[in-house]
Amino acid sequence: MKVLFVCLGNICRSPTAEGVFRHAVKQAGLDKKITIDSAGTADWHTGKAPDPRTIKAAAKRGYDLSMLKARQAVSEDFHKFDLILAMDESNLANLKTIQPVDGKAELALYLPRCGQAAREVPDPYYGGADGFEQVLDMLEQASDVLLHEIRSTL
Ligand code: 4NP
Repeated sequence: MKVLFVCLGNICRSPTAEGVFRHAVKQAGLDKKITIDSAGTADWHTGKAPDPRTIKAAAKRGYDLSMLKARQAVSEDFHKFDLILAMDESNLANLKTIQPVDGKAELALYLPRCGQAAREVPDPYYGGADGFEQVLDMLEQASDVLLHEIRSTL
């Protein structure tokens, strides 16, 4: 099972989604069976580590994101991954523009796909520290549901 998380810059939300889910998968002993990655629809931050505020907020909850490097989502991702999860409607629309007709990946909005009431993970980039905490809260809940679902299919 291969899962790709996608946001705009790949330095705030999707690296957090990746780190939170990676942690849960490791705890469940499923890290050999589930491949996890993240990407941005924009290429602005390619090769860079997550935003320092993202790294700091995640570290306080025990997630180490410091080794991650941003990359842009590409059409080939639809052949490589089984599930591509977008953080907001704009990311989803951008992904649809590069989705190949024969791509195997299921493409969805992360939160509703994983049973959450909210549709979007709000972009914390231009806000304060509380935005990063809210992102973590939302992604921890969605991650639990995602792991539960995938575990039942393995
Ligand atoms: P992300 O947040 O999509 O969650 O990584 C953003 C990161 C960078 C920018 C916007 C959103 N930016 O404008 O550079």
